[in-house]
Amino acid sequence: MPASIVLGTQWGDEGKGKAVDYLADRMDFVVRYQGGNNAGHTVIAEGRLLKLQLIPSGILYDHITSVIAGGVVVDPRHLIKEMNELRALGVDVSRLVVSGNAHLIMPYHLELEKVTERFLGKNALGTTKRGIGPAYGDKAARIGLRVQDLFDAKIFREKLDVVLREKNLILTKIYNRLPLDADRIVEEYVDLASQLEPHVADTGALLYRGLQDGKHVMLEGAQGTLLDLDHGTYPFVTSSTPVAGYALASAGIGPREVDRVIGIVKAYVTRVGAGPFPTEDVDETGERLGVRGNEFGTVTGRKRRCGWFDAVLGRYAARLNGLTELFVTKLDVLSGFERVRICTGYRADGALYDDFPPHQSLFHKAEPVYEELDGWMEEIDEATSFEDLPKEARTYVHRLEELVGVPVSVVSIGPARQQSLPVG
Ligand code: IMP
Repeated sequence: MPASIVLGTQWGDEGKGKAVDYLADRMDFVVRYQGGNNAGHTVIAEGRLLKLQLIPSGILYDHITSVIAGGVVVDPRHLIKEMNELRALGVDVSRLVVSGNAHLIMPYHLELEKVTERFLGKNALGTTKRGIGPAYGDKAARIGLRVQDLFDAKIFREKLDVVLREKNLILTKIYNRLPLDADRIVEEYVDLASQLEPHVADTGALLYRGLQDGKHVMLEGAQGTLLDLDHGTYPFVTSSTPVAGYALASAGIGPREVDRVIGIVKAYVTRVGAGPFPTEDVDETGERLGVRGNEFGTVTGRKRRCGWFDAVLGRYAARLNGLTELFVTKLDVLSGFERVRICTGYRADGALYDDFPPHQSLFHKAEPVYEELDGWMEEIDEATSFEDLPKEARTYVHRLEELVGVPVSVVSIGPARQQSLPVG
């Protein structure tokens, strides 16, 4: 059973790119299964810093086929730009395959998201403004355009005319904006289509054949469990489904193929955008984690909110995703704290919760209950094995695995490939 799922267990930005890059060595396919160019993966490979938003980081390996599955929303302008940036760095992008079923992010999605976020005022979600929500909305409403529509000019025009009639009414009559012009969209997208065409294929069939031949497939999630449309902190979530179950639905493969579900866990917690965050620290600790961890969004440059590790969320992610192992990232950021804290439960309305509260208003007022451990003062980014780490750092990692109930397989102590240390 050679398929693995790799996903974020918090609010995204756990360092999935780093983990996928580390694990990709043994893979034949790396498949992105949801979201769009709202994600941002920073990878340092052979001394080069790469920022990928849509293309799986497997693209950096010559032996890997990188797949964008049907459950992803694709902004073709962005995809072509990212492919060109990679080419300019000497990366071969010919092994990128895009599902014809993936939905397109269209210019009106970007325009509508801008005006609706503004309209929400202080209730805005703080989205990445990449058109993700509007594109998934149209998919569910069955008025979306798909990658395959790009290759039938007549169908593309027909579908666009229908949808643009409504979108332009909304833009002009409700939001007082200028309408978008169908001819201009067609002209631009026809050109993009010709560049994309060699990369479009039936990715479900491709992966099925690969699995039949004993190839290894890694299904890579974007964002994180707490941003999941169904299981996250709704409405402060993204519009897709990062949890493990969706990896299969999107890629079009069955559950029996998967034997590893790897949860990426940052050694502390961050969040961008609005929404509840029980362990958020707005004082010195949060500031220090943000500075040491360079916690600024890859996509929007926004400062991330920071706080101590939350084991309640860890257990929730373990349960929802059926995690088989944890990959802990950014442990080095915790160096220099005399004491480190882990949230083991919440207090809300006089009751104690050690599981994710069943009602969102409880989560909004959840007060973290902390356990304190000895910290370590020395820098650890040059350690070459897990056993090399200070005793306190190892104790911290073992306590995380105990509280989450899932074994840790790798600890990462810096951005470079060799800074990932196998545990046990
Ligand atoms: P959207 O995905 O652009 O619709 O944004 C919805 C929420 O998800 C916002 O709070 C974003 O900040 C958050 N979000 C989306 N993508 C990421 C990501 O890759 N990392 C962290 N947060 C994200």
